[in-house]
This record gives sequence, structure tokens and C-alpha cells, in this order.
Amino acid sequence: MSFNAIIPNDPVEIKETYVPTIEFKKEQNILLLGSGGREHALAWKIAKSPKCAKLYIAPGNAGTALVGENVPIAADDFEQLKSFAADHHIDMLVVGPEDPLVKGIYDEFRSDRQTCHIPVIGPSKAGAVLEGSKDFAKAFMQRHNIPTARYQTFDGAHLEDGLRFLETLQPPYVLKADGLCAGKGVLILPTLQEAQKELREMLGGMFGNASASVVIEEYLHGIECSVFVLTDGKHYKILPEAKDYKRIGEGDTGLNTGGMGSISPVPFATKEWMGKVEKRIIQPTIQGLQDEGIDYKGFVFFGLMNVNGDPMVIEYNCRMGDPETESVMLRLKSDIMDLFEGVAAGNLDQKRIEFDERTAVCVMLVSGGYPQDYKKGYPISGLENVSDSIVFHSGTARKDGAVVTAGGRVIAVSSYGTDKKEALKKSFTEAEKIQFTDKYFRRDIGFDL
Ligand code: AMP
Ligand code: GLY
Repeated sequence: MSFNAIIPNDPVEIKETYVPTIEFKKEQNILLLGSGGREHALAWKIAKSPKCAKLYIAPGNAGTALVGENVPIAADDFEQLKSFAADHHIDMLVVGPEDPLVKGIYDEFRSDRQTCHIPVIGPSKAGAVLEGSKDFAKAFMQRHNIPTARYQTFDGAHLEDGLRFLETLQPPYVLKADGLCAGKGVLILPTLQEAQKELREMLGGMFGNASASVVIEEYLHGIECSVFVLTDGKHYKILPEAKDYKRIGEGDTGLNTGGMGSISPVPFATKEWMGKVEKRIIQPTIQGLQDEGIDYKGFVFFGLMNVNGDPMVIEYNCRMGDPETESVMLRLKSDIMDLFEGVAAGNLDQKRIEFDERTAVCVMLVSGGYPQDYKKGYPISGLENVSDSIVFHSGTARKDGAVVTAGGRVIAVSSYGTDKKEALKKSFTEAEKIQFTDKYFRRDIGFDL
């Protein structure tokens, strides 16, 4: 990869002088950040590319070690990551999780002499705010006429106004901590009393600084769908959409989790519906980023609600979804490195994207107790017996040569099928072959489609 990067003295200048050419090395060294199922699926896809010379994953898990080399550096240890990238001749950095993006890894790499030539797949800090601040995201949507629930934002000094605003809404009530809360910052309350109580607690520091401001919004009735695009900041490619199953219990009951399974394609995401998504949501979002001068080269994840046939935005994320990636990557036929090159060079419009027509699903095996307290370190057996599915590791580690559980979500069992039924049957059958103490999974993924 070569960039006509002029190395400035003042890091602030670099955004203006960063002029990529489209001369990429034939084979590139890639550093992927993260350690979950999403990253194993991305690593699996990147490793298939003829453009991939060497793939490193920091910090990775026992699964990513099967397709690349794990590097024991945390995904937000920017100094160590920059040194590693320079020392190992990294040609591209791909960022899996939101945390390093919201903390500004793109800008860090850009503004450091030793790494400024390395393209980063992931937005700048200014772009990652779409996920990092719910209030920013809502105001952005309002500025660009992007359909979303009616809302207002309140801080501690305006608690009384917030309590009164709740009185103007219909139940249930949706409260969102403005900042990142590891997926726990959204509360949906059935009564006004509970909503008012929770608002006091959130503004009182329930999630620390992340809930210093709280977005209160209208509840949207409908079915959710995750839509993903890759963008070079100007052009975009729409990836296969997916549906995620967030609740721990069958029939969508119980506590929220990171996601218990996913399915792609989503039957209601017809050509007509996706046309509305593109025209009303994707185009104004990409145009809005451009108009506001926000540097954005990476994935945009649109969390959508289908409200009587009309898509509305529930949230933006600045990365791929997990466990959606574990089915979406199965459906992406094109070389992901070719698309990443388009993102880096700003010529994504010249790239072709092809999908596999088959259905892909993912069923997540989790630790007993998750999403509340659970134990880690149990040996996992039977992985070698899986023949009809693709196994992605979510929370695993290697200990004394054995693969052990190392998280709430442990293994994603992904499968293809001519339809949803066939793909799910494979995942459920193969899921039974994998054993660990207190293993649990939902046997009803796809029940509502
Ligand atoms: P978020 O972290 O914004 O994705 O919110 C977590 C979950 O809360 C979403 O996936 C939805 O299931 C639900 N949710 C968030 N906002 C709304 C809303 N305005 N109406 C209905 N459900 C919502
Ligand atoms: N599956 C939802 C997320 O990744 O946020």
C-alpha cells in the first residue's frame, strides 16, 4: 500500500494532506482489532482473500488463532498497537469493536509519523460519535431529516423538564444513556412512575458519566432489522441485512444480551423496503457525514425498526454487529479485502459486491447464567466433530493446550441453507456436538420470521 502522505509536523494538518493513491501491495499484512465472534468471522473472511499476506488479531481468541496470529495487545492500547504496526509492516488496520473507534484510534494512527501511511477501516473519532453519543446521533438524524423516534435530551440540571416530558409520552418509555454503556444503557419501562424513577437514577450517575445526559424517546412498535454499509465517506456498498435475537429467553423473553443468534436475509427486507432504507436513511446519512466534514471510512450499522412498512432508525453503530457478522460474512461472496481497498482509496464505487443467495444463520452458545453472573474457564469439547456448520469463537481462550470458555457468549455456530429452516436445523444439530458445563442456547432463533 502506498500513500502520498506528506508527513506534517502538526498532526492536525494530516487530514488535509492524506491523499491516498490506489496502488496497493499485491499481498498485505493486516492487523484486526477485537476478540469476539464478530472478529473471528471477519478474520475468517479476510484470511480467505488472496490479497492477505499475514493476518494478526489483537488480542483475538482461540478461534482467531486458527486463521491468523494473535497478538497479546488490548484493542485500546494505542501506543503498543502503533509500535506493533510499524514493526510488523502492517498495511491495513481493521477495527472490529466500537471502543477503540470512539476513543479515536483512526485519528491516533493518522497523526503518528510511524503509522500515518496505514489505512484504517473504521471511522474517525468524529464519525464514531454516531455511536458514542445517542444525543449526537439523534440531533444528526434531525438535521438530515432521517426518520427516527421523537425525542428530547436532558442533563442533571433539567431533571424536572425530563420528568414533565415523560408525561407527554405514551408507555412504554424509552430512556437511553447518552454515552457508551457496553450495551446496557437503554431502559424500556412500562409505567410512567418507573420511567420517572429511572430517569432520576440515570441522571444521578447510574452509568457514571455515560448517563450524565439521557435521551428520552418515543417507543417504536415493529420488528427490528440490522442494515450494514461499508463506506469510503462518499460512496457506499450495502451488505446483506440481518436480524438479531437479543433476549436470553425463547420467545424473546428475559434479559437483553449481546445477541443470541442471527439470520440473513430478513424476509421483510424486500427490494421495496430496502429501497426506502437506502433513500430515506442510508443516502442522507452518508451525505450528512460528508456535508458536516466528518471523516468516515468504515462500516455503518443502522439499527432499524420496521414500523408498518416504514423503516425508522433506532440507533447507529460505527462497526459491524455481533452476532450479525457471523451470518453476514457467510453471505458476502466478494473479496472483503478488495472492498476494504476501495474504502481506503475512496473508490468504493468502482468495486463490485456480490451476495450468496443462500440463507445464513448463527446460533450462539452461551455460558449458563449469562447475561448475569457466570463462570469461565470450562473446557470446550466436540469442536472437531462439527462438520456441517462454521464455528466462530466468541468468548474462548487457550489454557494448557485446551480451548476453554472465556466469556458470556462462547461459540457462534453458523450455517448455510437453501432456506432458514435448513440452515437452522444444521446449526441446532451441530450445536449439540459442542460441550461445555452449563452450555445454553436458544432453540427458537428465527421463530418470528
Ligand atoms: P440500542 O442500544 O439503542 O440498540 O437499544 C437497545 C434495544 O432497545 C434496541 O435494540 C431495541 O430493541 C430497543 N429500543 C431502543 N430504542 C427503542 C425505541 N425507540 N422503540 C422501541 N424499542 C427501542
Ligand atoms: N447485535 C447488536 C450489536 O452488535 O450491537
